[in-house]
Amino acid sequence: ALERTLSIIKPDAVAKNVIGEIYTRFEKAGLKVVASKMKQLSRAEAEGFYAVHRERPFFNALVEFMISGPVMIQVLQGENAMQKNRDLMGATNPKEAAAGTIRADFADSIDANAVHGSDSVENAAIEIAYFFPATDVYAR
Ligand code: CMP
Repeated sequence: ALERTLSIIKPDAVAKNVIGEIYTRFEKAGLKVVASKMKQLSRAEAEGFYAVHRERPFFNALVEFMISGPVMIQVLQGENAMQKNRDLMGATNPKEAAAGTIRADFADSIDANAVHGSDSVENAAIEIAYFFPATDVYAR
C-alpha cells in the first residue's frame, strides 16, 4: 500500500554530514521526501515524541542525546514506506544491524544510532502529525 512514515536523522548523523547520503538511500529505494525540516528539539518536544518510552531505563539518555544538536525530520512516502524505511535503517543496535544498512554504516551505538523510523503505520500517522501540520506535507 502507498504509505507515509516519519524519519529522523539524529544529531550524530547530522554532525557526521551524511544527510545527503541518507536521503540518497531513501530515494534509491523509491521513497519520496514529501516534507522535511531541520530542527533543534526542545527537551519538552523530545520527551513528548518519545513519551511511549518514558518508563524505560534509557529514556533520559535518549532525550539528552536527541537534544544534543539539530535533527533532520522528514516524511517519506512510497509503497510500504514504513517497512521499507525500517529495512534501510537496520537493527536498532548498530552492532546487530545488517551490512549495508544505514545504522551499520553510520551509527556508533544504540543511543547514537543515526536514524529513527516509525515502527507501525498507526504510529507513523501520530509521529507525522507531531512535527508537521497537514498543509506542510506535499503529496506529490
Ligand atoms: P528509536 O528508533 O529512535 O526509538 C527509541 C530509541 O531509544 C532507539 O531508537 C534507540 O536509539 C534508543 N535506545 C537506547 N537503548 C535502547 C534499548 N535498550 N532498546 C531500544 N531502544 C533503545
